[in-house]
Amino acid sequence: MKKKIKTIGVLTSGGDAPGMNACVRAVVRGALKEGLEVYGIEHGYQGMIQGKMRKMNWKSVSGIMHQGGTILKTARSERFRTKEGREIAYNQLRHYEIDALVIIGGDGSFKGALEFSSEFDIPVIGCPGTIDNDIFGTDFTIGYDTAINTAMWAIDKIKDTANAHDRLFFVEVMGRDAGFIALRSGIATGAESVLVPESSTDINRLIAKLERLYQVKQRSCIVVVAEGDEMGGAFEIAKKVGQRFDKYDIRITILGHIQRGGSPTCMDRVLASRLGLEAIRGLLDGQREVMVGKICHDIVFTPLEKAVKHHHELNPVLLDIIDILS
Ligand code: F6P
Repeated sequence: MKKKIKTIGVLTSGGDAPGMNACVRAVVRGALKEGLEVYGIEHGYQGMIQGKMRKMNWKSVSGIMHQGGTILKTARSERFRTKEGREIAYNQLRHYEIDALVIIGGDGSFKGALEFSSEFDIPVIGCPGTIDNDIFGTDFTIGYDTAINTAMWAIDKIKDTANAHDRLFFVEVMGRDAGFIALRSGIATGAESVLVPESSTDINRLIAKLERLYQVKQRSCIVVVAEGDEMGGAFEIAKKVGQRFDKYDIRITILGHIQRGGSPTCMDRVLASRLGLEAIRGLLDGQREVMVGKICHDIVFTPLEKAVKHHHELNPVLLDIIDILS
């Protein structure tokens, strides 16, 4: 028979993502409503090792919904990758009598969770929180919608100056090995080209397109480059293009961590609230070592093992849109 859960721990791990706070709020309040005790674990797995547990009550999560970042802080822990580190973390959980964990994070955090729960008998449930949207088992991750809106907002501004000076801009966006942010922000800003790791980048084709646009008197262009593109980042690609086609005055912008910050969008707040609450319901229903996601309109529990093994695929129809419309 499964042990009854009385006390849970919640932590945020890996890169922060807007909406993580809304998820923490939902987990804390959802658990309190069910009569559970809740500890917030600060600084992710690193804090778990160090025993940074904070008892949470209804008010601990008041007024945080609109804030970016994470009130629990986050980290990427090297020590948790070691057996010794995980053992210390487990002993800390025992000390606080925490008997289940909700992990809000991305792929790396889930790998850690899986390893931890296979070594120690502790139920774990994941909520996908990353701006990259690269997690299998959910249409969207918490933070992605805010990030694409931030990227869109920034590229719109770059377009104004590109246009004023007749320039070609290469704009690099985040996403690690995935092109989700690049693709959506590129479509939304009418970019001339979007380069993503999921499809091979053909520099000849890109140059041919820019030449064609130049011939029809288009004087400013935007190329959105996903940071994980196999041809390199915006600097390398701009160099390769500039060496062979010098009609455009080229500039490069790396959007960087601006994409991780800011107040979450309505979509992210709602998604985070829903997934946080479903994580608690799932735990109490006996779900173990799963990630809670939303596919179409349904809540879906995907085994963590599957979530970390499979890739979330880019929609090829969206890739075509760029080619057809620019
Ligand atoms: O996973 C989120 C993310 O922002 C990626 O898009 C990016 O590659 C990475 O984190 C950057 O991590 P850090 O802030 O540790 O440099």
